[in-house]
Amino acid sequence: MNRLKITLLSFVLGISVSYASDPTDEGMWLPSLIGKNEAQMKKQGFKLTTKDIYDINNASLKDAIVRMGGGFCTGEIVSDKGLLFTNHHCGYDAIATLSTPTDNILDNGFWAKSNAEERPVEGLFIDILVRMEDVTDKIMPELKGLSEKDRAAKVNQLGNELSKKATDGTDYNASVREFAKGNAYYLFVFEKFSDIRLVGTPPQSIGKYGGDTDNWEWPRHTGDFSVFRIYANKNNKGADYSQENVPYKPKKFLPVSLKGIKPGDFTMVFGFPGRTNRYETSMGIKLAIEKVNPGIVKNRDIRLKAWKEEMDKDVATKLALSSEYANIANYWKYFIGQTQQLQRLKVYDQKVAMEAKFNAWAKGKAEYEGIFEEWQKAYAAYEPYATHSTYLNQGIIGANVVNLALPLVMAEEQLKDPVRAKAMAERMKGSADEFFKSFNLPSDQKIVAQTLLAFYNDIPKEQHPAIIQEILAKFSAGTPEESFKKFAQEMYLTSVVTNKDRFAKFTENPSTEALANDWALKYFSDFRKNYLTKYSKYSADFQEIDKKLSRIYIKGLTEMDPSLVQYPDANSTLRVSYGNVQDYDPRDGVHYNYKTNITGVIEKYKPNDYEFDLPKNFLELYKNKDFGQYADAQGEVPVGFITNNDITGGNSGSPVLNAKGELIGLAFDGNWEAMSGDIVFDKKYKRCINVDIRYVLWCIEKLGGSDLVKELKVVK
Ligand code: ARG
Repeated sequence: MNRLKITLLSFVLGISVSYASDPTDEGMWLPSLIGKNEAQMKKQGFKLTTKDIYDINNASLKDAIVRMGGGFCTGEIVSDKGLLFTNHHCGYDAIATLSTPTDNILDNGFWAKSNAEERPVEGLFIDILVRMEDVTDKIMPELKGLSEKDRAAKVNQLGNELSKKATDGTDYNASVREFAKGNAYYLFVFEKFSDIRLVGTPPQSIGKYGGDTDNWEWPRHTGDFSVFRIYANKNNKGADYSQENVPYKPKKFLPVSLKGIKPGDFTMVFGFPGRTNRYETSMGIKLAIEKVNPGIVKNRDIRLKAWKEEMDKDVATKLALSSEYANIANYWKYFIGQTQQLQRLKVYDQKVAMEAKFNAWAKGKAEYEGIFEEWQKAYAAYEPYATHSTYLNQGIIGANVVNLALPLVMAEEQLKDPVRAKAMAERMKGSADEFFKSFNLPSDQKIVAQTLLAFYNDIPKEQHPAIIQEILAKFSAGTPEESFKKFAQEMYLTSVVTNKDRFAKFTENPSTEALANDWALKYFSDFRKNYLTKYSKYSADFQEIDKKLSRIYIKGLTEMDPSLVQYPDANSTLRVSYGNVQDYDPRDGVHYNYKTNITGVIEKYKPNDYEFDLPKNFLELYKNKDFGQYADAQGEVPVGFITNNDITGGNSGSPVLNAKGELIGLAFDGNWEAMSGDIVFDKKYKRCINVDIRYVLWCIEKLGGSDLVKELKVVK
């Protein structure tokens, strides 16, 4: 074997090269390869074998881990009747959708008293991994000499063939995923369950305690959990919702430990991290810090403020917008933090240093020499256009009315033919009814006016769509800001997509003429055409070169120093990360303890505040110290704890397991001082924020008055 072969193999196999000498807890390891880490894990306290984690012939921990809704979160099975724990913020959309002003389970909480009271969640599904397989050797040789485009098509074709072969004659589904920007490929076989029911949730004053103020921060006091149940058909197979379905009998479920934790204890997080970009270049970081991140934050800020104002006015609007608000707010704060920490931790300089090292090593190696020159050129060509799509995606099309406008804009051709137009209008009736049920006009109108102003001010004039000048001419009102306001007002007053009756009238007689002078249609259509015909190519060209060079860079880094590339970036596939319970010092002179307590929840309490209010019975239970079996030696119910496990978004809801594989908490967040963690794992600062399982069970039993705990296997 030549050197390249060995090093690439070491990547693919996940061999730990320098780990033993320099233990960090960085790493999102592939469960099928975790055997390579066993010695290190044992050294850190792990009491099982890696076969207990992943084994395709016997029940193993992986059988208790579920991917939610295609990967937005993780959940874990905790009983032999398919009971599922995940975060409250993962169940949020389901809970908000099931809530009404008169049955407001988002605000009041809910606990089903029997299976019959559990509430089916339309559209929610989960997948359980059956097995995974390295198919790199079946794909890579076929890609030699292909252009980037042909390469993607070939991967797709081979992936489909392999998936089909892997699932023929079964009820499973499979897909092939790319790793390390195309240096490796794995096949994943899943079983899908589409009958998922809500069993219970704490009120959001507990499940989202601390709101956006505390989000992404430690010390934390959020009871971020909710409870679902997986239903299967009579043969225990995944199936669509049916009254005949029965609780799923899993191959494996997690026991729950009440024994408690202390600093240094071994911890393992098992879940589906969504995306990291640990090999991002210095150019990418510069672009993010200076342009893209501020653009995201600015546009999200506009939307959040417009929504918040309306949500505060009445409960129905609040319920309608809550879930989307939470999602937008979550990554609004994420990008603020990421920018701050990239700067504070001097990540740009770290990357520049690494790239200089790489360039020196690459000298004289045809495959690698000069990739950074090519990369710089690609960035230079793309940079003037980079924020155009940001402002479009995060701002202009952030108005909810786009849900109705865009399908019409895209159906321009269809609408010219009366028969097809009629059929299309029929099809849109249902989604329009749904849309108008929760449509909030005042906030939407504001969002159009303000995101248009942001685009107008921040995007180079020569990139503006023609409609901006038309608007300024027709709605002239002194300043662009006033003109855009006037325009938005007219749009929401007249368009077919901004009013239920006008839309209904349109569907009776759909035609292009009916839309010819519709401001909403003109507006979104012009922005879209302008982008697609003139600017999308810059981003497509950039993506293509960026992808190719990333692939070569990672391959080169592996060759230069395999210890730099020990695990592949997160890509929504199942991973194991291990580490320890660990406190930290966020800045000079300040120490953060590894745990928080119920007393801290009370300390943060602000009556009637939308983020720090508490249910009445919480105060009562606290006053009476009614902590049951969940109190620790200090007489506290432990609420949160931190570990140095390597996680990211998508891991939300993941089980935190102790050395014996027992559930001790649910991972739900990252910490402020390491918000740049998706790009660089900072050993000193990166922590994983978890809700302690004892708080979860206390909230179920004492606060919620549910006897669900009886269904669990509790280890004391
Ligand atoms: N930051 C958490 C995550 O991305 C989500 C927390 C949800 N809570 C909130 N206040 N938005 O995993």
